[in-house]
Amino acid sequence: VGTLGNAAAQSGRYFGTAVASSHLGESQYVSTLDQQFGSVTPENEMKWDATESNRGQFNFGSADQIVSHARAQGMSVRGHTLVWYSQLPGWVSGLGASDLRSAMNNHITQLMTHYRGQIYAWDVVNEAFQDGNSGARRSSPFQDRLGDGYIEEAFRTARSVDPNAKLCYNDYNIDGINAKSNAVYNMVRDFTSRGVPIDCVGFQGHFNPQSPVPSDFQSNLQRFADLGVDVQITELDIEGSGSAQADNYRRVVSACMAVSRCTGITVWGVTDKYSWRSSGTPLLFDGNYQPKQAYQAVLTAL
Ligand code: XIL
Repeated sequence: VGTLGNAAAQSGRYFGTAVASSHLGESQYVSTLDQQFGSVTPENEMKWDATESNRGQFNFGSADQIVSHARAQGMSVRGHTLVWYSQLPGWVSGLGASDLRSAMNNHITQLMTHYRGQIYAWDVVNEAFQDGNSGARRSSPFQDRLGDGYIEEAFRTARSVDPNAKLCYNDYNIDGINAKSNAVYNMVRDFTSRGVPIDCVGFQGHFNPQSPVPSDFQSNLQRFADLGVDVQITELDIEGSGSAQADNYRRVVSACMAVSRCTGITVWGVTDKYSWRSSGTPLLFDGNYQPKQAYQAVLTAL
């Protein structure tokens, strides 16, 4: 565990990154990962299309590579993600309600059993709410066939399989106080009041000029924490460069540091050259693995 990871650990937090198994053979990628980060999230390798592309046939090969690497380095692992409308194989969308319910519960059970005891937190359900002002659930095979109750069912199943993993709801555009984050807030409040098992909310934190770091980011994190759940920044990347980008990173890290239940931060990749924002430069290391101004800002704010 290296520099960013060590700095975060001084306040009991983790600092992690998304990792793609396809880059684990690149020495600079691995040395930057190992020197700097204390936690990893598989970027795609644990998603439904990667782990169960055919019903009942599970493939853990590339996710196992990441988990083994992380464990050998003493890094914690975030599991991402069990129930999501995207990167979902076609066979799932073709199922009727009762088949879909058992497929969902089986998928959760197989993944969480395979990694039992090795995952710090699972994103049990990802991106279940619509953007915009409706506060409504997003249409998905799960929502459309099983109704609102699928989220609760997914969390209950998850708790029964690995009672030691923290169970998170994860989403984007919920970083500030808005209709979408209000809807998630109301769901979490309902869950905690009825004893539905939920431990954390993940704020993805994909920021760009159209979706900037909101001024009420910290107070939004705090209102969720006040419900009795941990909060985590799970997929942080910020478009831009130079001092403007560094300042946005500083603001995000400072907000987390100011909320005692903000337990950690994950950036969505090691280096700009492999960012999912293919034309952008949203991460802490440039394409030559040189630390950027944003890196210094993060290190100072941790
Ligand atoms: C992205 C990956 O980074 C890409 O490689 C992939 O092609 C698409 O998914 N929200 C999430 C992540 O929860 O899983 C997404 O990751 C980014 C948006």
